[in-house]
Amino acid sequence: MSEQFDLIVIGSGPGGYVCALRAAQLGMRVGCVEKRATLGGTCLNIGCIPSKALLQSSEEYHHARHALADHGVLVDSVTFDLARMQARRGEVVTANVKGVEFLFRKSNVTWLKGSGRITAPGKVDVDGTVHETKSIVIATGSDSMPLPGVAVDEKRIVTSTGGLQLDKVPDHLVVIGGGYIGLELGSVWRRLGAEVTVVEFLDRIVPTMDGEVARAFQRILARQGLKFRLGTKVTAAHAGNDGVALALEPVKAGATEELTADVVLVSIGRRPFTQDLGLESVGVELDQRGRVRTDAHFATNVPGIYAIGDVIAGPMLAHKAEDEGVAVAEILAGQAGHVNYEVIPGVVYTWPEVASVGRTEEELKAAGADYKTGKFPFTANGRARAMGDTEGFVKLLADRTTDRLLGAHIIGPDAGTLIAELAVAMEFGASAEDVARTCHAHPTLEEAVKEAALAVDGRALHI
Ligand code: FAD
Ligand code: NAI
Repeated sequence: MSEQFDLIVIGSGPGGYVCALRAAQLGMRVGCVEKRATLGGTCLNIGCIPSKALLQSSEEYHHARHALADHGVLVDSVTFDLARMQARRGEVVTANVKGVEFLFRKSNVTWLKGSGRITAPGKVDVDGTVHETKSIVIATGSDSMPLPGVAVDEKRIVTSTGGLQLDKVPDHLVVIGGGYIGLELGSVWRRLGAEVTVVEFLDRIVPTMDGEVARAFQRILARQGLKFRLGTKVTAAHAGNDGVALALEPVKAGATEELTADVVLVSIGRRPFTQDLGLESVGVELDQRGRVRTDAHFATNVPGIYAIGDVIAGPMLAHKAEDEGVAVAEILAGQAGHVNYEVIPGVVYTWPEVASVGRTEEELKAAGADYKTGKFPFTANGRARAMGDTEGFVKLLADRTTDRLLGAHIIGPDAGTLIAELAVAMEFGASAEDVARTCHAHPTLEEAVKEAALAVDGRALHI
């Protein structure tokens, strides 16, 4: 039955569902279109949540196997049950997607089940029924970027979706792309016993992260047994009965070589998802990278049509999508919704974790900024020693004149949690001294953050 709404959001990922909830909270009548059988988008169904479930399970196994004895905890034999791990992953996903369904019911957001297509400003066709609305928010997210010559079958040549669902640990997993997905899923399968080779086009991993942190990250992962082939590209992949044969070539000219794998994970980035949305017919412009073009208020060039999340410019991160969802809902309600793109944290949930917010040292150099650096290693942090987790460091970058924090980069235990303090500090325009003068509980990992802040002024105490 055709309905009338104030807002229709197309897509129920973290951008879309959060936008729908906030708009409902602000008094709008909201419909959210989702074609998947469950709400929550990439993040809850096939992204953040299932990957973190497997990272947690594999880390528990790895810890029990390799770290407990050092604590004097002796376990006779440690094995794992992959079927149970995978079932648990499914349970975690179900609990989360059902949670969104519950929130929709509680907030009176109507789930319009089916594929949404914009037929005109203010009109959205959902599987043949046209609903009317004052505003439309496109939140259709992204999907994995294909690699020419490497045909995905989600069994032997997989994207993250297939890579999360393997029912057997591969003997040899080749990961194409040393970014977020490749290193998280590479870690999962490495911990469970796979030989893992990461083939990366550039001469470094995690290219958006601080270079010094990336180098330390690679060294730590190499100690965990991951192998790296940097500056290398995959030109072809042939899946046969005995696995997959890959053709590898150095990026800077050289001989082709063959590498065989049981499973190949293609993780070379994601691309905005704009298919079958009717964008061409209503005249919504895309940018040169196929993303929906928006202004600073998330408005497209067509009045009444907005876009947020992975389908627009910016980092493809769930929390960025969520914050944009809130901001656009507030703008539609006449408020001053806003996202501070200078302070979007990024976290790789390996162990140790890698987390960053603000500028990298390379970005500051390229901008000609005059900055100071403060670093503190976890080897000198009492809590990290007690935990037996001393790999990594905290690195802070601050303006040389004003001392204002410009960037924070952490590789170490719980880095993803530690970074939040620095995001708050940066949101408030804090200086390194503000962080250094804040009382931090002892003994905590956060003290490494405080010490790095002291180190910006050359006065760290515990090193
Ligand atoms: P999506 O979550 O992609 O949701 C879009 C939804 O729109 C989908 O459900 C889709 O079915 C629906 N849709 C599309 N077109 C239509 C249509 N025409 N009609 C109806 N419905 C439609 N980010 C993090 O911040 N932290 C992490 O730990 C993290 N881990 C990740 C792990 C993996 C393996 C992957 C793949 C991604 C991960 N991400 C992570 C990225 C994160 O998932 C995305 O940034 C986030 O999901 C983007 O949210 P979104 O709302 O823009 O779109
Ligand atoms: P990515 O952009 O993080 O990494 C892709 C890597 O592949 C880069 O290092 C790039 O240089 C490399 N690459 C590109 N083309 C290549 C080629 N032809 N051969 C070899 N290497 C190549 O992309 P990824 O890992 O696919 O993840 C997509 C996005 O999903 C991430 O950028 C991130 O936004 C999001 N994500 C976030 C997570 C988190 O927050 N923890 C976890 C997983 C995904």
